[in-house]
Amino acid sequence: MEKIRVFSPATVANVNCGFDVLGFALDGLGDELVLTKVDKPGIHIIKIVGASLSAKAEENVVGVAGLAMLDYLALDYGFEVEIYKNIRLGSGVGSSAASAAGIVYGINQFLETKLSNLELTKLGMKGEALASGNEHADNVAPCLYGGFTLITGYQPLNIVELPVPDELYATIIHPHIEIKTKEAREILPKEVSLQSAISQSGNLAGLVAGLYSSDYELIKDATKDALIEPYRKQLIPHFDALKKAALNAGGLAFGISGSGPSMFTLCKGEASAKAVETELNSKLQTVGLEADSYVSKVSKHGNKVIE
Ligand code: HSE
Repeated sequence: MEKIRVFSPATVANVNCGFDVLGFALDGLGDELVLTKVDKPGIHIIKIVGASLSAKAEENVVGVAGLAMLDYLALDYGFEVEIYKNIRLGSGVGSSAASAAGIVYGINQFLETKLSNLELTKLGMKGEALASGNEHADNVAPCLYGGFTLITGYQPLNIVELPVPDELYATIIHPHIEIKTKEAREILPKEVSLQSAISQSGNLAGLVAGLYSSDYELIKDATKDALIEPYRKQLIPHFDALKKAALNAGGLAFGISGSGPSMFTLCKGEASAKAVETELNSKLQTVGLEADSYVSKVSKHGNKVIE
């Protein structure tokens, strides 16, 4: 095998109550990478379609994560990489994570002895750090594992795969504004109140229990954000009006996807997710905010080889 094409899905991080520790994978939307094994050591980015990014490996998320993996394994060969970006940069659905996870997953396909998803996540986080200034794994992990992933610890990194209830869908809206993760992290307070920490831990535990028991009412009650949303929603015009519209239309929960500006609504069933999408599009039009929208099942699958 000399050449492969890898699909790397979009992901939703935080999911309201799990800042930096929870995320899930989406269906359909994702980036693609084509990797060709070459004798020359290193990561050689030969084509970038869909985004204006540096082709220098050290300045590109794909390059940084890929080089970290080559270094870790002391490989004496390298890869030419073509990058096809379908996830817009700074959109909040894991664009940099898809690049980082895609390259480490892709290189792994060429190895006789494969690395685990946990090892790949650690390497992918190096690429994520280039984009966001911080080594968080809540997009990279669901990209690699699929489904919902919970990071139970960073030192050492530990990841638990959570079950995905069959009827769980997400409606995503992506307003045409850009929010840099680095900046969206800088506006957060360094300390939080005991009261909001109690609410957040109850909600995260409730959501995990809801996923295990496919209890949609519990998922609805628990998927709330007492810590981050009050600060970040100011970066997203009409956030409160959109949230109200989504919940009134039957959404279980609404929130900022990762660091935004995309927003997600969790829904029970595809029909409900589509009704929420219609309502949100009508609200977006009323307030004059341009956005894309789509409906996706919460995907049980992560990266995959497509050619
Ligand atoms: N957990 C991260 C954040 C996800 O919210 O800053 C963004 O990539």
